[in-house]
Amino acid sequence: RSLKEFNTFGIDVKAKEYISVSTADQLIKVLDTHRPEEIFLLGGGSNMLLTNDVYKTVVHLNLKGKKVVERNDNKVIIECLAGENWHEFVLWSIDHDYGGLENLSLIPGNVGTSPIQNIGAYGVELKDVFHACEAVEIASGEIRKFSKEECEFDYRHSIFKSDLKGKFIITKVFFRLTEKNHVLNTSYGVIEDTLTKKGVVNPTIKDVSNAVIQIRQSKLPDPKHLGNSGSFFKNPVIPKETFEQLKKKHPQMPMYAVSKTMVKVPAGWLVDQCGLKGFRDGEAGVHKHQALVLVNYGNATGEDVLSLAKMVQQTVMDKFEISLEAEVNIIA
Ligand code: EPU
Repeated sequence: RSLKEFNTFGIDVKAKEYISVSTADQLIKVLDTHRPEEIFLLGGGSNMLLTNDVYKTVVHLNLKGKKVVERNDNKVIIECLAGENWHEFVLWSIDHDYGGLENLSLIPGNVGTSPIQNIGAYGVELKDVFHACEAVEIASGEIRKFSKEECEFDYRHSIFKSDLKGKFIITKVFFRLTEKNHVLNTSYGVIEDTLTKKGVVNPTIKDVSNAVIQIRQSKLPDPKHLGNSGSFFKNPVIPKETFEQLKKKHPQMPMYAVSKTMVKVPAGWLVDQCGLKGFRDGEAGVHKHQALVLVNYGNATGEDVLSLAKMVQQTVMDKFEISLEAEVNIIA
């Protein structure tokens, strides 16, 4: 079976076997009858680059459902199953006037994978709204609950990417959202500018969501039309001293402070400065509006995208001596 429709890069590779599971019980049964190394887990397919056929059983996590499980004062706890589409969940929360997810509008992928890399955009990260999650342990088939602290969230990072990598399957996520007195985060200049341009004075969560949607649509390609996985690289975190040195040579270099000693440099800016924005090599390319995004013009193989990514990394290394790390999971 082809996996083309199941990965937002639109890479056409085949899977040995494909199973869709819609409950935790079904998932546990599959785990019972397959060895862990025979299984390939698929969520929204929005953060992976497939470079080869998958000689495994693809287990597609299609668990659906969302509901309020707790209410107190100003807060609600929402339970959402892993197979829900992230953006549809965000829109649902906004329709019910639950606040907190608006800045995370239009991020591709599913709810169940959102904690793994602590998705983030426009000053908000998943960890800011995350309450807890439930996951099935692959080795034992047992369900375990993780608190926010136990997830060890960091920039595009969690315990599910380090110590527990490949050990648990998230089946359910609990979010803590506001029910009234929403706290808006419009600190990102682009959001403020967009709202001002629209003449919005007292923005609602819906207004913020719409602004984010507009900003993202103007820069980020829609995977339905142009295969991609959002940011292909992480924004590198470098020592402040290194940044000060680089700044002498590149006075325009932007940065966000991360700590007293470290700063984050936008990878998109670095790639752009190398003149690579809009660069195309056959079927793979660097997006013309956002240099951080690699795209598949239709028939790229995973290898095509990977070799483009390596070229980009090397070019940035040669010019800035900064190493770019892929944000997307590269599946060999
Ligand atoms: N820039 C350029 N040229 C480009 C792209 C960016 O000069 O081609 C400059 C911009 O002008 C700006 C800076 O780089 O000064 C940062 O760009 P932007 O605000 O677009 O954000 P980003 O750092 O490129 C990050 C996230 C995005 C998230 C946005 C908004 C990472 C790796 N990416 O991008 O996340 O939507 O901030 O908060 O942290 C994703 O992870 O898939 C993703 C899209």
